[in-house]
Amino acid sequence: MNRTATRVLSSIEEVREALAGPGRVGLVPTMGYLHEGHAALIRRARAECDTVVLSVFVNPRQFGVNEDLSRYPRDLNRDLAVAGAAGADLLFYPDVATMYPVGYATTVAVGGVSEPLEGRSRPGHFDGVATVVLKLLNIVQPERAYFGEKDWQQLAVVRRMVRDLNVPVQIVGVPTVREPSGLALSSRNSYLTPEQQVRAAILSRALQAVQAAAAAGERDTAHLRQAGLAVLAREPEIELDYLVIVDGDLRERAHVENDPMTRVLVAARMFGVRLIDNMPLYSETRRLPERESRNT
Ligand code: PAF
Repeated sequence: MNRTATRVLSSIEEVREALAGPGRVGLVPTMGYLHEGHAALIRRARAECDTVVLSVFVNPRQFGVNEDLSRYPRDLNRDLAVAGAAGADLLFYPDVATMYPVGYATTVAVGGVSEPLEGRSRPGHFDGVATVVLKLLNIVQPERAYFGEKDWQQLAVVRRMVRDLNVPVQIVGVPTVREPSGLALSSRNSYLTPEQQVRAAILSRALQAVQAAAAAGERDTAHLRQAGLAVLAREPEIELDYLVIVDGDLRERAHVENDPMTRVLVAARMFGVRLIDNMPLYSETRRLPERESRNT
């Protein structure tokens, strides 16, 4: 099953040494507990780059005080199996002291796109993400870095940071992979029972209802939202944080344009777990075939 023998490196020096030769380097930054969505990122990098570096680092700086840092799922052996099968050459697996040594004092704060939605609900989250992503980009110095569209706002924040700070890297967004039920794959799905996962797929059905209303010609965002909210109202377990329709700069508008960057985003707590999802307003989404379905 292990197609590539993935080398595990835990120091920055080892990474720099391993990448000293020529060739295009692709970076796939993750927090581990890999699933088919991560495998899709690695496979895309494999197809486009000479050397594929996967990073696995549960970044404490992007978790709030009451969030799930201590229980975030971790399993290096499983990650190595997924990484090897998908074609990663190197797995950068630093510890916290390597990334944030004693005396560490720098934070990257991206304005604008990081402020609404997740930024409002999870203060400091995107500072932590931007900081660790910039560090990983500086350590690996890839030509391309791959991020899942599942975290749409994160992708926008990373793109903004790279543009603003002239980081010489191409950011590649990769479409969300879904369970046959429609549930977007996420490491946090492992907190849910199989039955809860099936019920959590209601989030994707709400997004599809918004897509269907848009496809039927609705342009008023209040009416579009209503189509999604009507679906969510059927599930008593939902504590909704937001359901919004935004433009490419994550701004809500009264009316939508038929623009590929227009997106519908949802965040809700279900069964004690905070889940997010999003879809383009005007196109199809991809699902796992039945046999590739993953429980995480
Ligand atoms: O999306 C994630 O897994 C994380 O936010 C990232 C980009 C690896 C930064 O820690």
